[in-house]
Amino acid sequence: MCKRSAALALLAALTLSLRLPAQSPSLAIQVYHPTAKVSPTLYGLMTEEINFSYDGGLYAELVRDRTIGTDWQALAHWTLVARGNSVADVSVDQATGPSAALPRSLKVSVTSATEAAPAGVQNDGFWGIPVRPRTSYSGSFYAKTDSVGVPISVKLVNDGTGATVASATVIGLSGEWKQYTFTLKTAQVPVTANNHLILTIPRPATVWFDLVSLFPPTYHNRVNGNRIDLMEKLAAMDPKFLRLPGGNYLEGDHISERFQWKKTIGPLVDRPTHPSPWHYRSSDGMGLLEFLEWCEDLKIEPVLAVYAGYSMMQEHVDPGPALEPYVQDALDEIEYAAGDTGTKWGAERAKNGHAAPFPLHYVEIGNEDWFDRSGSYDGRYAQYYKAIKQRYPDLQLIATAPIKSMRPDVLDEHFYMAAEQSFADANHYDKVDRQGPKIFVGEWATREGEPTPNLQAALGDAAWMTGLERNSDIVIMASYAPLFVNVNPGGMQWATDLIGYDALSSYGSPSYWAQVLFANHLGTEAVASTLANAGPRVYTSVTRDEKRRKLFVKVVNARSDAMPLSIAIEGAPGVGPEVTLISLSGKSPNATNSIANPEAVVPVESHIHTAGAKFEHSFAPYSINVLELSY
Ligand code: AHR
Repeated sequence: MCKRSAALALLAALTLSLRLPAQSPSLAIQVYHPTAKVSPTLYGLMTEEINFSYDGGLYAELVRDRTIGTDWQALAHWTLVARGNSVADVSVDQATGPSAALPRSLKVSVTSATEAAPAGVQNDGFWGIPVRPRTSYSGSFYAKTDSVGVPISVKLVNDGTGATVASATVIGLSGEWKQYTFTLKTAQVPVTANNHLILTIPRPATVWFDLVSLFPPTYHNRVNGNRIDLMEKLAAMDPKFLRLPGGNYLEGDHISERFQWKKTIGPLVDRPTHPSPWHYRSSDGMGLLEFLEWCEDLKIEPVLAVYAGYSMMQEHVDPGPALEPYVQDALDEIEYAAGDTGTKWGAERAKNGHAAPFPLHYVEIGNEDWFDRSGSYDGRYAQYYKAIKQRYPDLQLIATAPIKSMRPDVLDEHFYMAAEQSFADANHYDKVDRQGPKIFVGEWATREGEPTPNLQAALGDAAWMTGLERNSDIVIMASYAPLFVNVNPGGMQWATDLIGYDALSSYGSPSYWAQVLFANHLGTEAVASTLANAGPRVYTSVTRDEKRRKLFVKVVNARSDAMPLSIAIEGAPGVGPEVTLISLSGKSPNATNSIANPEAVVPVESHIHTAGAKFEHSFAPYSINVLELSY
């Protein structure tokens, strides 16, 4: 065709298309045509100590740097209190502590003090100590003294007013290390995080303290338990598993800094604490048993990640005899979690207070071993696989990098994306080889907004989740990461985290709500659907719940204009007439939630009355929607 006739043909086509009415966007759904099973365990949680997730986060301890007796050289978060003319000195005593694990302590030497002018120490908590009215706080410390019988006054004090909000006196101190307990009860005090804890001595004496602890009421009233508001937020996500304990936190920067589970169980005084790769020391109050009890409280299963001989500074253990002790450690860990009380480590768990074994189906071998440049992961995975399968043939073993020598049961893949990437990659798993290993997307997030994701990120997440659901025959599990961030200055090491909090309150980001919406409307099968004429940035997934005869239609409109969509449920004339619509939207992609404004972007439920199986709805700009219908 010559240039002139080509131009004429184009003009004719353009003219024709201008005259034709624009094709309107439509979604045709074949409710009786299932395309894939939806994994019942698709949505879960991933956790590690990062962004003050446990210490200063989920783990409800209120005292910061409670174990002075570790390897801190200087005192952090502990300062001298000297009322009136009292004279005292505070230091770290490297020579005495309450246990082999905590060999050092906080030494308070009071040379002059009275009842009216006592001296001692104060702790400022994790960006304050939250206080609520009519609440009991359970406290304890280890101590010894050179002045037998010296009483210790314990108080919660308001930072601004200096008013005591709760107090107790501990007596009976001796020359031997011993644990003392106390209760602080508040009266009708205002809710505030601006408080500190003080321990004072009313006469000249030297007192050594360690493991000073204070807990508010916890979720399910667990001793050494978790923050209630954060656990409630997790429960609302309807998760099915918890991937623990990391992440980089499992590996540590160095082999010596890996998560050594055996040092995280039993009495707190026997836990030495350890450095984490996220630049602060972990108290290990959230130890292996606490992780498992966290699962129990949410009625979910652990996905237990075991250390596999690689740490982040390119340190690795060669497969073969050198790796054997690490493999044995993993076998012991599995036994601690899931063995009955007739086994060595099952009995140890019972001794630690939990006789019943925890359900366990998945064990992950390492974390992100694609970073290991030595090429040793293939051999390491194979060695763990052989040893674990021999004892536990039913466990599914997750690889964290592709394996050439064998087919792993499950492969963990991680995705951290900008919103544009999440949109562009929403079909990522559509063409994945069904003969390959099952996929666990063990970490993923759209990273826009900090400390927590904004609506644009949530739209990216939702677009991407439509792909996970469609392909949930192969993608059996997925968990957003990281889960938590303490939003105080210095609290965040990794931007874009699902749930934000300070000492007093917490909020879910728009991405959190996207997770809630998707996980609470999962369905059991994906069904065939055809989206037509919708243009870019519109994503859908349709699932049904066979038993409940519910249809879930997810529509993500990431565009700046409303999108009228004509929806036809084919082959189901009895559908409707009431449709529940839950919608998460905002005026701008930058819309977000925060401590100050926790509910700027939250789901809103409404109802659509339809005349039958065909109806139209206009989906708001920047919106994530779930339609729930009975069929
Ligand atoms: O989620 C933050 C970090 O990202 C994880 O610790 C690590 O596994 C990944 O690289």
